[in-house]
Amino acid sequence: MFNAEKFVEESIYKLKNTIKGKALIAFSGGVDSTVTATLVNKAIRDKLIAVHVDTGYMRKNESQQVETLMKKLGLNYHIIDASKEYYDSLINIVDPEEKRKIIGEKFIRIFEKVAQKEEVDFLIQGTIAPDWIESGDGLRDTIKSHHNVGGLPKEMKLKIVEPLRDLYKDEVREVARTLKLSVAERQPFPGPGLAIRIIGAATKDRVEIVREACFIVETEIDAAVSKGKMTRPWQYFAVLIPIKTVGVHGDKRAYGYTIAIRAVESIDAMTCSYSNIPHEVLDRISIQITNSLGEKINRIVYDITHKPPGTVEWE
Ligand code: XMP
Repeated sequence: MFNAEKFVEESIYKLKNTIKGKALIAFSGGVDSTVTATLVNKAIRDKLIAVHVDTGYMRKNESQQVETLMKKLGLNYHIIDASKEYYDSLINIVDPEEKRKIIGEKFIRIFEKVAQKEEVDFLIQGTIAPDWIESGDGLRDTIKSHHNVGGLPKEMKLKIVEPLRDLYKDEVREVARTLKLSVAERQPFPGPGLAIRIIGAATKDRVEIVREACFIVETEIDAAVSKGKMTRPWQYFAVLIPIKTVGVHGDKRAYGYTIAIRAVESIDAMTCSYSNIPHEVLDRISIQITNSLGEKINRIVYDITHKPPGTVEWE
């Protein structure tokens, strides 16, 4: 049986003994990186530097919220806006694995620069068990190269520390509750961000569409949860399918993209089933998205695929 308090105590002790020098962490503001940063911060205080990279594939207002959280946690931090660089490097990239590798690699390069400037020796990562299991550990097939591990070049000079490596998400949440972190119940958000919620090329125009659609899905589901109409799914978001279909907008022919809504129930993300969302909530989401995105979107579908055979994210 997992004991979160004991885990916290033992981790801080181990981290104090392992990290001799300055360390860097990528801080996304999700449960994994927030728990990791909090543990390491307790162990080595301001020798930990948190870096938040705005890849341009973040959710609405996310980077501002992350900054508020880093301040609240008392972290020593930097924010780097790399959005243009990301958009430029992904403009023609269609293959999901190629996208993931480019995003991960770029992330590491940005980090290496900060690491050199700050003269750090350690790279702290919020990797949890499903991240490396599904990235292929030599025994299993590579399902997807998860961001945290996919981009790591073999010759990387920083020493890697992954305090949550053996934990599953439910255990990480338990640790977050023990540490009294406000993000304990936050839904997971993948490292490659909205780039893997756009099928094919993740261009700036398309990100703006999927960002708004994701915001609407989150807002409507959060509202329905707080009104007691449904329980909070494990994850809930929108995916942009840039295939055009014919519709009607006002009294004119429309020819726009499709949005898929994905909401799933899971315990550890290794398997999931699609959520049973009340039709009334789906209806509100559909109307909000088509009203807000006008002629760009004229079709909304609900994804009814379990994992397996699907995965949570579409790419
Ligand atoms: P899949 O799509 O593989 O997702 O069924 C399982 C869980 O992992 C999240 N996910 C990621 N998390 N880096 C991450 O940190 C990634 O590259 C990544 N890809 C997927 C996904 O949102 C789900 O919670």
